Amino acid sequence: MSNWATLFLLLMPVPLVTFAAHTEPNLDLPPADVEAGKQKSTACAACHGVDGNSANPKYPSLAGQVPGYIADQLDLFKSGGRKNDIMAGMVAGLSMQDMADLDAYYSQQKMQPGAIAEDELDLARRGERLYRGGYAPLNVAACISCHGPDGRGVPIHFPRVAGQKRAYLEDQLRAFKASYQHPESGVRISYGDIMTSIAFLLSDEQIKEVSAYMHALQ
Ligand code: HEC
Ligand code: HEC
Repeated sequence: MSNWATLFLLLMPVPLVTFAAHTEPNLDLPPADVEAGKQKSTACAACHGVDGNSANPKYPSLAGQVPGYIADQLDLFKSGGRKNDIMAGMVAGLSMQDMADLDAYYSQQKMQPGAIAEDELDLARRGERLYRGGYAPLNVAACISCHGPDGRGVPIHFPRVAGQKRAYLEDQLRAFKASYQHPESGVRISYGDIMTSIAFLLSDEQIKEVSAYMHALQ
């Protein structure tokens, strides 16, 4: 077991049984072809950028994502486990081979880190405290323990958050939070309820702070 995995088990705020029950992202990927992935990515470029760096703050960047995560999320969009009308249409025709190829292509691209305006440095610093130290009064685990000190993520469970689009990060944290409150109408699941139960404890202000920080993290 890697150090991160050990740390993760130690810090995990939810019962391990839940995690073990319905957790493993789909790892059953066929061998990937990066060049084929590049070809297939032309269908995605309008929203996610040619090299996976999105120009729209609402659309996530895919460049430099941890290997396996993109294929897993595509599979979730397809099965309806993660709900989004745009992406549901995009994945309808994708095979496991397509998902594996796209995953391989994007994970090899380089994520361009975002920037923070001068007048938002304090906001981002508060976000840094949450990211690195968690929030003790509510027992919120530090984000660093799963997403890494530099936000690079850990294959395949823990996605990269460093450099990710800010509005997208905020939207996802709110989606996790809402899904925890109303699982039946939730739009985003989390394996073992990890992110949903964490986001549920965050205030809207904290969501803004930590998203600003992650966006600028390199
Ligand atoms: C018309 C715009 C559009 C197109 C085209 C599009 N996407 Fe998306 N994509 C989105 C949006 C919007 C989201 C955020 C969905 C959400 O909020 O859950 C998203 C989310 C994703 C995610 C989740 C990222 C994460 O960090 O969890 C992946 C992976 C993804 N798209 C891959 C693709 C691939 C591969 C293609 C091409 C086959 C594609 N997208 C085409 C708009 C688009
Ligand atoms: C115990 C491990 C763990 C901790 C601690 C953790 N995360 Fe996560 N995070 C995950 C996992 C796993 C996912 C992938 C979603 C899923 O399948 O559950 C995720 C997904 C995310 C995403 C969605 C990324 C994307 O590309 O769509 C964001 C944003 C995020 N986490 C932010 C945070 C923040 C902010 C904190 C700290 C307040 C945090 N996480 C703490 C495990 C963790």
